[in-house]
Amino acid sequence: MLRTNRPWGNPSSLSFFKEHRNSVEEAYPSELHFLEKVVPQVQSVLDVGCAAGGLYPVFKKYNPRLHYEGADVIPEMIENARKKFPRLSFHLVGGAALPFEDNSREMVFSSGLFHLIDHYEAYLQDLYRVARRFLLVDFRVHSEATRCSEMWVAFGGVERKEELKVPYYVLNMGDYLRMLTRLKPSPGKIDIYGYPGKVSANTKENIPDVLFLFANIEKGAGRTAWPEISLHITPKPQGGVG
Ligand SMILES: C[S@@+](CC[C@H](N)C(=O)[O-])C[C@H]1O[C@@H](n2cnc3c(N)ncnc32)[C@H](O)[C@@H]1O
Repeated sequence: MLRTNRPWGNPSSLSFFKEHRNSVEEAYPSELHFLEKVVPQVQSVLDVGCAAGGLYPVFKKYNPRLHYEGADVIPEMIENARKKFPRLSFHLVGGAALPFEDNSREMVFSSGLFHLIDHYEAYLQDLYRVARRFLLVDFRVHSEATRCSEMWVAFGGVERKEELKVPYYVLNMGDYLRMLTRLKPSPGKIDIYGYPGKVSANTKENIPDVLFLFANIEKGAGRTAWPEISLHITPKPQGGVG
């Protein structure tokens, strides 16, 4: 098992995702920025790291006919998701690579995951492989060197136990852009939007403020030229979380 999987199965995490992140009010402004534009353009989405499937109502709001599927590494998360949405498909995955065909989902989405796994670069390429048109994914970025710190998966309190620990990656802006532009096949377009914010109280204290950046990566047709790139960093919108 990947060292990054297990902490998500603890009781505080299971109960948090049963009750939260399940409405537009609890979605991040950076997610909504892209979801309202992209979701109406697609018929299928795979939500990787879906937890209890909470974001499904948000997707549905923007496209009532969307075929939504979720994937997660924690069996109890998948059970909770299946109980809540018995008509939808939720897949238990190993977390190293997805068991899906190339280009099999029009859109692949992942939120709140890529800064918390060691194999973020290989996994990004794997999600991009599965996406036919769009990959939407968030990272934490800053102007300093790429660094790996630590976060404890403990909701509702600071609980620094070894078994709750996951890595917390903050990427250098240049490394981040290089990683996105090196995806194969070369993306046609990359739109990045986000804002500076404070890291969670459950991370090691010495991480400075970071940029919370969501990217909408549009698959190209294998061209070798540079993708069209836009990067929009704003002050954090009022009232938004995360
Ligand atoms: C921070 S939570 C985010 C949940 C949800 N996406 C959200 O934004 O509310 C991370 C989720 O990713 C899952 N996860 C961790 N590693 C994973 C992997 N390699 N592949 C898929 N899911 C993973 C965890 O079990 C957990 O449910």
